[in-house]
Amino acid sequence: MRADKFLAGQGIYTRKEVKDFFKKKKVTINGEIVTDGSVHIDEKSDIIMLDNNIVTYQKYVYLMMNKPAGYISATEDAKDPTVIDLLPEEYMHFHPFPVGRLDKDTVGLLLLTNDGELAHKLLSPKKKVPKIYLAKVEKEINDKDIKAFKEGIYIPEGDYTTMPGNLEIVEKGDNPLCKVTICEGKFHQVKRMFEKRNNKVLFLKRITFAGLNLDEKLAEGQVRQLTDHELKIIGKEKA
Ligand code: URA
Repeated sequence: MRADKFLAGQGIYTRKEVKDFFKKKKVTINGEIVTDGSVHIDEKSDIIMLDNNIVTYQKYVYLMMNKPAGYISATEDAKDPTVIDLLPEEYMHFHPFPVGRLDKDTVGLLLLTNDGELAHKLLSPKKKVPKIYLAKVEKEINDKDIKAFKEGIYIPEGDYTTMPGNLEIVEKGDNPLCKVTICEGKFHQVKRMFEKRNNKVLFLKRITFAGLNLDEKLAEGQVRQLTDHELKIIGKEKA
């Protein structure tokens, strides 16, 4: 891969800073000063130094995306653009994939990684990883709806009953805004739960996943690496 992409992919320096490092002769590859960032390296065997410090190869990447509507949560799709199309180039060599799915029209927090073990853990139904959504719905919410969410709702399309969830009204009105907490991630789950209560989701945004809160500073379509603190939350200490 290109040396400048390798350095920018560490998530510590901006592309502009990386460009500057090359210009100022701060980068060496196998002991030789390199001023052209486009030079190709073997990130697994070459020794890349910045300011006389070895830059170690980062095997895994953990990204938080604020997913916009219109994108499929997959690595490829025959018809529609995918969340991978939104990634800056410096992350592509990691081959990240989305951890679970948000519907095409759902927005908000999506985790992407190339750490299959972590993804497997976070998606395992046994782990009951909590997810919190903001949902704008068509009709009023009543106490019976709240109780039904708490008790679990039978979904005939999948022939299962949802695990206990939490439904909370955030803003009353013609189209109330509510907060929904669920600990599983079945297909169209939130939409189907409201559907079975004779209601309809008009807008859906995930704000929390596995204890990670959506960074509201991330505009829709933007992505950033998780901080050390966030890595700890999902059980990943930085090496
Ligand atoms: N539930 C849904 O119905 N859709 C999503 O995208 C996520 C949860």
